[in-house]
Amino acid sequence: MVKYPGHLISLWLLSWTLLSALSPCAAAAPNLIPAPLEMTRKSGNFRLTADTRIYYTRGASAIADYLSAELAPALGWSLPAQAAEAWQAGGILLELNDEPQSAGDNRAPGDESYLLTVDENGVRISAARPAGLFYGVQSLRQLFPVEIFAKEKQERDWTIPCVRIADQPAFSWRGMLLDVGRHFMPVDFIKQFIDQLALHKMNRLHWHLTDDQGWRLEIKRYPLLTGVGAWRDETLVGHYGDSRRWWNRLFPWIEPVHQYDGQRYGGFYTRQQVRDIVDYARTRHVMVVPEIEMPGHAQAAVAAYPELGSSDEAVGVKRGWGVSPYIYNPEQSTIDFLKNVLTEVMELFPDDYIHIGGDEARKDQWINNPRVQLLMEERGLENEEEMQSWFIRQIDEFLSQNGRRLIGWDEILQGGLARGATVMSWRGATGGIAAARAGHDVVMADNNYTYFDHYQSESGGEPLAIGGYIPLKKVYYYDPIPGALTEEESSHILGAQGQLWTEYIKTPEHVEYMAFPRVSALAEVVWLNQEPEQRDYQAFLQRLDVHLQRLEIMNINYRQPEED
Ligand code: ACM
Repeated sequence: MVKYPGHLISLWLLSWTLLSALSPCAAAAPNLIPAPLEMTRKSGNFRLTADTRIYYTRGASAIADYLSAELAPALGWSLPAQAAEAWQAGGILLELNDEPQSAGDNRAPGDESYLLTVDENGVRISAARPAGLFYGVQSLRQLFPVEIFAKEKQERDWTIPCVRIADQPAFSWRGMLLDVGRHFMPVDFIKQFIDQLALHKMNRLHWHLTDDQGWRLEIKRYPLLTGVGAWRDETLVGHYGDSRRWWNRLFPWIEPVHQYDGQRYGGFYTRQQVRDIVDYARTRHVMVVPEIEMPGHAQAAVAAYPELGSSDEAVGVKRGWGVSPYIYNPEQSTIDFLKNVLTEVMELFPDDYIHIGGDEARKDQWINNPRVQLLMEERGLENEEEMQSWFIRQIDEFLSQNGRRLIGWDEILQGGLARGATVMSWRGATGGIAAARAGHDVVMADNNYTYFDHYQSESGGEPLAIGGYIPLKKVYYYDPIPGALTEEESSHILGAQGQLWTEYIKTPEHVEYMAFPRVSALAEVVWLNQEPEQRDYQAFLQRLDVHLQRLEIMNINYRQPEED
């Protein structure tokens, strides 16, 4: 994790200041990420001064306040925001129309489209919906010199190029998963990460809140979920394989002696903190999708409430990685427990989607448990896959009755998929193809392209990661629409998201290192959905060069990509 030393940053900022002093009116060529659908550079520049005001039409005042607050630290003053009726030339107008803006091609105009025009007399962003206006604001921020992202006042001219941008996203689901089950991430960092998603015009934070190694969400009715389930005694050091010696290979029945760090570890989010994060995300047009894992990845919950488990063995919160055999039992009482948990989850997360996991549910404990076998017989279920399917269907019905939508990993396809469920395809594209053909909506989270816990380089010197190799260029050329689908089937692909699983990622700085700039590449993939042959990686790298200066100024610990 290489950080630039402070004196290099100062030198670089100084040379920027000198350059801009030499040519005070020259605005930089636009380097937007994600690139807009259509952009025309016009001659001339717009200069923001102490007299510039923001004007807004009805419904747009919150976005005006957001823009003013984002610009204020670097400007050293806050642009006053006023209703549009007071308009004066030289201002920035944020205009909500009733009519959706077409982005100028044949795509259906979306709720997230916008039109941004900059001329010497002012800036105008118009959109049919607040989300579009918000993305116009993100483009505007990126038109400024990069120092606009500084957290302290910068002494310089604020000039931006005259342009016309007509823009809208290709996909409605543009997301990132953050796993806080394996390693807890502080509230301030979650907010900073949401800020980065917003800057990249991403609109989903998939918040992986429960796993074998930790339950991170306060649930009033079941205090032991966090009282017990949020804490593990210690954590595995390195990979399991690291402890394997020659004699373990020769005599595989001899268990390797794994090394643990001996440090109690944990943490959780209070209801108030969750509300705060959800509100913060909403202001930035990011929907937080909570994930409560079931029926597998349940060891922390079973450690807290052993009656939920499927085996008689007492168990603690998991200390190492990999797939745990501890699975919820399929008793009605356990389904009721989960419904109670989800009732509280729905109170905290007001948006449609609730993710219920469904992945990697090992069935050994169901196979070996006579009571579970009896339940299968009573319910007329042929096998354990059908039992999982029964389980998911109970939850799906409950969420549907409450006006919510179930989303789960592609294993929920096994044994019959709950009606109306949305599938997140992680084991390659196979699950996504099957689900789209069956008429289900799909989010692509393909582990060959979007697992940002994998290594970014094969050259060594990278921090320990789970394995794999997904370099920036591979992400940039990812096509979320599986080639096997017809056009009609493809309409079920809502979009894609990147995953930050945190087994080997312990700190916010390390999350950022794994995320950026792969998030920047994915953001462009899901915004534009260009045919891979239309993409220009070299041009992307050039824009990225400027974008990384923004991240640097914001103190984001990105990884410097290789010149390719
Ligand atoms: C997953 O990576 N188990 C969804």
